[in-house]
Amino acid sequence: IGELAAGMAHEIRNPLTSIRGFMQLLKQRLLAVGMGAETLYSDYALEEIDRANTIITDFLTLAKPKEEIWLLIDINELLDKMLQLVENQAVLRGVCLTWQFTTNLPKIKGKADALVQVFLNIIANALQATPKGGSIHITTSQLDDNMLIVSIQDTGNGMSSTVRERIFAPFYSTKEGGTGLGLALCRQIVEEHNGEIQVTSALGEGSCFSVLLPIA
Ligand SMILES: Nc1ncnc2c1ncn2[C@@H]1O[C@H](COP(=O)(O)OP(=O)(O)OP(=O)(O)O)[C@@H](O)[C@H]1O
Ligand SMILES: [Mg+2]
Repeated sequence: IGELAAGMAHEIRNPLTSIRGFMQLLKQRLLAVGMGAETLYSDYALEEIDRANTIITDFLTLAKPKEEIWLLIDINELLDKMLQLVENQAVLRGVCLTWQFTTNLPKIKGKADALVQVFLNIIANALQATPKGGSIHITTSQLDDNMLIVSIQDTGNGMSSTVRERIFAPFYSTKEGGTGLGLALCRQIVEEHNGEIQVTSALGEGSCFSVLLPIA
């Protein structure tokens, strides 16, 4: 994605910030003049502005990966910390989130924040695809002398092969309000780590995303 597009996205954010400010003022004025019911419209507008902002932020992250130092990373440790954050979301959705890690895995070399983002995105998708009562299972293991593998398996809706072929394309989404940047970002980060994402899926049965990462 070009410099130009990234520059444009950046420039769109400034007027959006002004619009947001004026909209908040307008809301306060509406309340002050006793038009409380009409604040619903300003709330909708504010929500939409926030949505546009999120899309731009995701897009900028994709277009300009931020500088981060490469460190030796214990993938189990990284996932363990991250899972504390998502466990709650799973509980709220009535989805059973479990994990089983292979102990004493060799370290990988990587950017911790970027890798967290990869797993958060994949797990967010799994949560969104899995109805109440379903489950998500995460495992880590050593694939061979060179690679570790992190698998995220869900019992969600799965994908048709037509959808499956397009999921990594930027802006491809089957969700209402989805930006379709999540997996494009994941793939970019994983490839930067000289890894690979493999996907298997069956409609109505679930999907499995496997992230392969080279051992340091
Ligand atoms: N675990 C999954 N089960 C079923 N479909 C999935 C799964 N993960 C991804 N998909 C499909 O891949 C598409 C692209 O995913 P991606 O994360 O890139 O975008 P998104 O989730 O739609 O939007 P967002 O930008 O908010 O992440 C989804 O819209 C969905 O159709
Ligand atoms: Mg997503």
